[in-house]
Amino acid sequence: KRVIFSGIQPTGVPHLGNYLGALSNWVKLQKTADPDDTLLFSIVGWHALTLPQDPAVLRSARDDMLAVLLAIGLDPERSVLFHQDHNLHHVELCWILNCLTPVGKLRRMTTWKSRLATSRNATSEAEVDESLLNSGLFTYPVLQAADVLVYRATHVPVGEDQQQHIELTRDLAEIFNRTFKGQKPLFPLPIYVNAPSKRILSLRDPTSKMSKSSPDTASRILLSDTASQIKSKIRAAVTDSIPGITYDPISRPGTSNLLTILAACTGSNAQDVAGKYISKGHGQLKNDVADAVEELLKGPRSEFERIRHEKAFLDEVARKGASKAIVYSGATMEDVKRRIGLS
Ligand code: TYM
Repeated sequence: KRVIFSGIQPTGVPHLGNYLGALSNWVKLQKTADPDDTLLFSIVGWHALTLPQDPAVLRSARDDMLAVLLAIGLDPERSVLFHQDHNLHHVELCWILNCLTPVGKLRRMTTWKSRLATSRNATSEAEVDESLLNSGLFTYPVLQAADVLVYRATHVPVGEDQQQHIELTRDLAEIFNRTFKGQKPLFPLPIYVNAPSKRILSLRDPTSKMSKSSPDTASRILLSDTASQIKSKIRAAVTDSIPGITYDPISRPGTSNLLTILAACTGSNAQDVAGKYISKGHGQLKNDVADAVEELLKGPRSEFERIRHEKAFLDEVARKGASKAIVYSGATMEDVKRRIGLS
């Protein structure tokens, strides 16, 4: 019996990297799960607070993200869909785990290290230190571990950039189990599950991943983009001037990224796709990628446009989801508190 948990930040409409790296895999897992598997998918509003947020924008972004989850085919009768901030057990367990987390482990998180690096560049002072960053950013992975462990999840479908956080989650589960021994370990060690396309790159700078934080909006395709927006972003994608098409992620990252996207859209693998383009050029490849992405997104896009305005329905889904989630996490928290002496 599996417990599958994953989360996404309320960034409004997700991009193609989120979709191919994680969301599409959630839908696939929902389709293939055994009847007694539990699936939980959460919109993680507390994680979003680690960066500055405009309250009005955040409010509508949370609604939009829930509408997207429904639009891509997650079924609230089968999967528990809920807002993280509707279940206080996450923060309760987060605090307990914080008290078991060595600071050194958090300093080794690549997400933290890249934040530090960015803040150094931003101020262009050599000696800017951690003191400028908020501590939520530092303990972010502990909240993520709590998200997973509070449901005693066994499987976590995420993109590659989240792998290190899942490893930390396993570490913290182990530390807890070792520190508070019972008849059997309280937490299972969750497994990281990734989609075949675990890392989609920026269309403008294929040395970095596609992300919502890049200021260049042409670097990402959103699930709500129209056919013509998709076409113009793919046409403008940075590739290389080597003739012919081959899959070579190291020396041809931009070209390979397009092949990865095409393969993901058509359910094949990038190397096989490349074989069909040996004697073709980037123009042809880009046309086909744009068509395949449009084909993939047009269904979810129109569903999203329909659902996003149904506020009462979205609120009802969120309310029901949270009340189911709280039942699962409540059972864990009782056990946790008993073991640590706080019951
Ligand atoms: P977030 O909101 O940044 O991203 C959501 C999911 O999308 C994946 N992803 C990508 N996959 C492939 N290529 C890309 N360019 C790309 N960009 C994003 C991410 O790996 C992720 O699976 N910390 C998490 C949210 C979270 C969570 C959790 C996840 C909070 N608690 C517990 C799992 C379990 C995050 O910020 O994801």
